[in-house]
Amino acid sequence: MPVKPDNIESALQEARSFPPPEGFVAHTRLDSAALEALRREASADHLGFWARMAWEQLQWQRPFTVVLDEADAPNYRWFTDGQLNVSHNCLDVHLAQRGDKVAILFEGEPGDVRRITYRELHAEVCRFANALVALGVTAGDRVVIYLPMVPEAVVAMHACARIGAVHSVVFGGFAHHSLRERIEDAGAKVVITADGGHRGGSVVELKAAVDKAIDGDACPSVQRVVVLRRSGRAVPMVPERDLWWHELTAAHSAECAPVWVDAEHPLFLLYTSGSTGKPKGIQHASAGYLLGAKLTSQWVFDLRDDDVFWCTADVGWVTGHSYVAYGPLSAGATIVMYEGAPTIPDAGRFWKICQTHGVTIFYTAPTALRALMKLGDEIPARYDLSKIRLLGSVGEPINPEAWMWYHRVIGQQRCPIVDTWWQTETGAIMIAPLPGAVATKPGSCTLPLPGIDAAIVNDNGDEVTAPDAGGYLVIRKPWPSMLRTIWRNNDRYLAAYWEKFQNRFYVAGDSAHRDRDGYYWIMGRIDDVLKVSGHRLGTMEIESALVAHPRVAEAAVVGRQHDIKGESVFAYVVCKGARPTGDTSALVQELRDWVAEQLGPIARPDDIRFTDNLPKTRSGKIMRRLLRAVARGEPITQDVSTLENPAIVEQLRGPDTQS
Ligand code: WTA
Repeated sequence: MPVKPDNIESALQEARSFPPPEGFVAHTRLDSAALEALRREASADHLGFWARMAWEQLQWQRPFTVVLDEADAPNYRWFTDGQLNVSHNCLDVHLAQRGDKVAILFEGEPGDVRRITYRELHAEVCRFANALVALGVTAGDRVVIYLPMVPEAVVAMHACARIGAVHSVVFGGFAHHSLRERIEDAGAKVVITADGGHRGGSVVELKAAVDKAIDGDACPSVQRVVVLRRSGRAVPMVPERDLWWHELTAAHSAECAPVWVDAEHPLFLLYTSGSTGKPKGIQHASAGYLLGAKLTSQWVFDLRDDDVFWCTADVGWVTGHSYVAYGPLSAGATIVMYEGAPTIPDAGRFWKICQTHGVTIFYTAPTALRALMKLGDEIPARYDLSKIRLLGSVGEPINPEAWMWYHRVIGQQRCPIVDTWWQTETGAIMIAPLPGAVATKPGSCTLPLPGIDAAIVNDNGDEVTAPDAGGYLVIRKPWPSMLRTIWRNNDRYLAAYWEKFQNRFYVAGDSAHRDRDGYYWIMGRIDDVLKVSGHRLGTMEIESALVAHPRVAEAAVVGRQHDIKGESVFAYVVCKGARPTGDTSALVQELRDWVAEQLGPIARPDDIRFTDNLPKTRSGKIMRRLLRAVARGEPITQDVSTLENPAIVEQLRGPDTQS
């Protein structure tokens, strides 16, 4: 473990506090008394509380009698003997009351707009579900979805849920190598993609990446590729294998009875980076996941029937699952989906969309805020943001400066900000303020939600109680939306999340501390996971991509602080043969492009430094802490006397510091 979290004293000394604005409290779903009542109920009877929530929030085809099955703990199972269908709970349940309400307000990057009602969405989902059935997809089969941020991404997810197929969405920014790895691990029968998506002013060639991913002997499980027409670009279609979405669905009916599945039936896999080179297929279960997504949408975003909710996350990430595809729809909300980049045609695009569509709740990542903040207050000032009543942040710690800008310029000092801590693994928001009940502090995600038993512990697993003392962030009791396992690798599930404290707590992989008011402050990852522009990247994945290049013998990747991205990718590279010297810019560029081509542009290293060898301990482990300190220009506190070649430290520091 590279950082001992209990040795960190918090450097942040943020004393500002913002009580919920009165105007907000007057209309909130949950005021502080209601929140207190929920907390009391949950702490008095954890299972009783969750059972009541599951009864009230979900429609069950067959009621459950078992709340929590702990027989195989820490592989927990919730509501085990109940049956339901997730798509039914998000769509059919609204048809009578709000069938004509807009479910999805879509804007493409080129400016095209679509408004899709709940009734229309239901029909599209049914049609596509019928089409999948006709292709031979049955309950439990895996379907990989590799689409741009267009409504069909949500349609495809719900169509899978409707027939009990397990979707695995792969972010469109991943390249063919990452895509192949995920398709193979999931054993997907069908891949759903598009002829291209609009992003950053150009067309992302998704279909080409699919063709490359399943070329030759790769991905033998794939029988069919469904291609959505989006960009209109010509793409080669493989006969027998590839089908156009519009041709496939044309023949199918807009009615499709949901397949009732067990509460624990897997709803989706979502691959995410961990401490090894291979991404983990985080597996979520149907009922518990939906309960978490729905409840938190209502609690944290205080959703009302007239809200227009915009979560800017791509469906390729968990935020796009819980707060685009599932949570807000289960709550009957109108959501906004935007296909493209925030800077097309200019940096006012987000604010223009808020104005055009009357967005009332806006949820985004700190990296986007920092980038837009740099461009000045004049840009948002050009737009009418008066409809916005609540702001949210997710994915990485938000620095107080960006928080204050968000509050002042976007929220115009009127809107609460919900800083929401959670993970792919937790399925739903875990630590966050309820905006009408909890005072916020810039940079803190505040307090755990009712039913979430979070704590901070030291290396021995003892709770850390001294204010501002850091430790491991853990969750002590199981919760319904937790991951169930890692797909086809339960040992890794146990090792990654439970073994450290002998299965007593779920270990989140973050360090955190609490202040005098019990507020949580997340300090960052304690494993080899980076957060680059809010995207989760494993250092090992980037290292394996680098060593796959013919010139590279060895590589080590660490994170370095970055003004906008939060963290940037810094790679130390040992080449085969002599260390490149002189003008290495061509090789640096080649390696950066290589990683982007293998894994996707998000993983492209910002810095590459060549070295003769990597600093290792006697047991041969790379000294990542040392590398991190060097990359960040921090003083070296590690003992370097055991290094094979102590002079290497000078080389690691780079050409500027070498004599
Ligand atoms: C980080 C994203 C600070 C954290 C939903 C976590 C945060 C990882 C916050 C999960 C926040 C997420 N404040 N850090 N509000 N939210 N993180 O799986 O390190 O992409 O472990 O899920 O993001 O990333 P993931």
